[in-house]
Parts: sequence; structure tokens; C-alpha cells
Amino acid sequence: MLQPVTPAADTTYEMTVVLTVGAVAIFIGVMVLVAVAVMHRRRRPANPWIWVAGGGVAFPVVVLSALLAYSTARGLQLQIPAGEAVVIEVSGVQWWWEVRYRDPVSGREIRSANEVRVPVGRAVTLGLTSADVIHSLWVPALGGKVDLVPGRVNHLRVEVTQPGVYRGVCAEFCGDQHAKMALHVVAVAADEFDGWLAAQAEPAVAPRSAAAKHGQQLFTELRCNACHAVRGIADAPRNAPDLTHVASRRYIGTGELPTQHDSFAHWIANIQHIKPGARMPAFDHLDRESLTALAAFLDGLK
Ligand code: CUA
Repeated sequence: MLQPVTPAADTTYEMTVVLTVGAVAIFIGVMVLVAVAVMHRRRRPANPWIWVAGGGVAFPVVVLSALLAYSTARGLQLQIPAGEAVVIEVSGVQWWWEVRYRDPVSGREIRSANEVRVPVGRAVTLGLTSADVIHSLWVPALGGKVDLVPGRVNHLRVEVTQPGVYRGVCAEFCGDQHAKMALHVVAVAADEFDGWLAAQAEPAVAPRSAAAKHGQQLFTELRCNACHAVRGIADAPRNAPDLTHVASRRYIGTGELPTQHDSFAHWIANIQHIKPGARMPAFDHLDRESLTALAAFLDGLK
């Protein structure tokens, strides 16, 4: 919140500072009047109405009215980026985020999870909905929160002005693992974004090493593909994160573990320890070799 990277977040930050300064001024002003009143009490019986009318009422009324006028006017000026926008759909699911892009070449849908990549300096419209209960998207550096409500689509238009990675959270209690529902917004230069999107539109790379090939086989045998899609290898139902390019994302497990070889095996075996109640069962019965093979397969999905 203190390092805004969109014009709307800049405005929100400025209002936060002005309203805080105003509140502190009222507090100090009233406390000074109280101190003066207490000190003068014994010397002569002052008419309390003088203090009430002179300061205790007039001062807060003046300051609060000024702040009300300021915040109303400034709130109306919140800049919503105009023009054609990149549309990205984000759906809240217990307890992760599905992120969908459209490939501008083929028009096909590209599914990803838990990471929203946006181009710097271009308007982006996030279409927000939910697959189950009410969630709320809050990426403090980008501005205000917006609820994700089942059965409707809310919109958040942003234009990120600086490249970087901005962490967000789910800001509405949505069940057991509400606290472990992080989201990362990765803002990159516009041409880098276009290249990235083209790469994401490609199907998964077939595994090359023996371990990764074995991992792919296990992926089917263990029925991982009943929930997780890997486009080109296992086109499956869509009730779990799409893993087509999972290794190109910064984190796995909705922000829980950095994407690296060890994390995959750790996650698969210990998911119910790391994130109790998650919809995926723990595969802690697998031997080391199988876990390593699965990790090799997933780590190759760049
Ligand atoms: Cu989703 Cu809290």
C-alpha cells in the first residue's frame, strides 16, 4: 500500500496520508484544549460553552468538513485507465486462483494459476469471478480490493507503471486455507509480455530425460490427470491448477513454495501438512524414486 504502482493506488495512498494527518491534527487540537481547560479550572470558573463553541466543536467540524469535501472530490477522480485493455480472467477457487488469458493469434484460452502477468504501461482489465464461495482480490500495490462473487463478474481496471512482482492475498474469509491463498502479479515490459503469452499458448514440452518420462507415466497412473491438465499431454477436467507451464511460474502451492525441483516432491508428499484441507490428497506413500520422477516431469514444464 505504501509503494503504489498504479495511478489509482497513488490516489488512494495520497488520501490515506491526508486523512491520517487530518485525524492527528484533530486529536492534538482537542487534547490541547482539554489540557488548557483543566489547567484553568481552579483559577476562575470558566464558562464551558466558550471552549465547546470556540474549539471543541468548531475545530473538528471545520477540519472534518474539509476532509469530507477533499475525499469525496478525490474519490471521484480515481483514474480508471481508458482505451483498449488486455483482458485477463481471474477466478477464485478454494484455495487458489485460476488465471485465464486469450491467445491473440489463435483466440484460444490459456489457463494458468496463482500468477497474473501484466504488461507495464498498458491498461489491463481483470474480470473477477468465483467458482465456489466469495473471495476477494487484494494486491495492495495496485489499489483497492474487489470481491469475487459466484455467478457474476466484477471488473478491476489497472495500469501498472513499474515492472516488478507484487504480492496479493485473498481478503475475504473463504474457508480453512483462506490464509494460504496468495497471488503474485508480475509486471513486465509490454514486448516481454507478448513473447511470454506466445510461449504460454504453446502446448507442454514432451519430457526428454528418463526420469521425466517415468514421471509423465506416473502422472497418468496415479490419476493426477483426473484434475490437472497439461495441455498436449493430458487434457483433463479443470478443477485444479493447469500445469502446462507450471515450472515457468514463480511459486507452486498458491505462493507456498518457490518453484524448484525439490519443491515439487515436497509438495506432492506433504500437501496435507503444508496446506491441510486442500482438495488434493497427500501422496506420502510414494517412494523417493517416484517423487523424484514426478518432480523431474513437472520441473520440465517450463
Ligand atoms: Cu479465498 Cu479467502
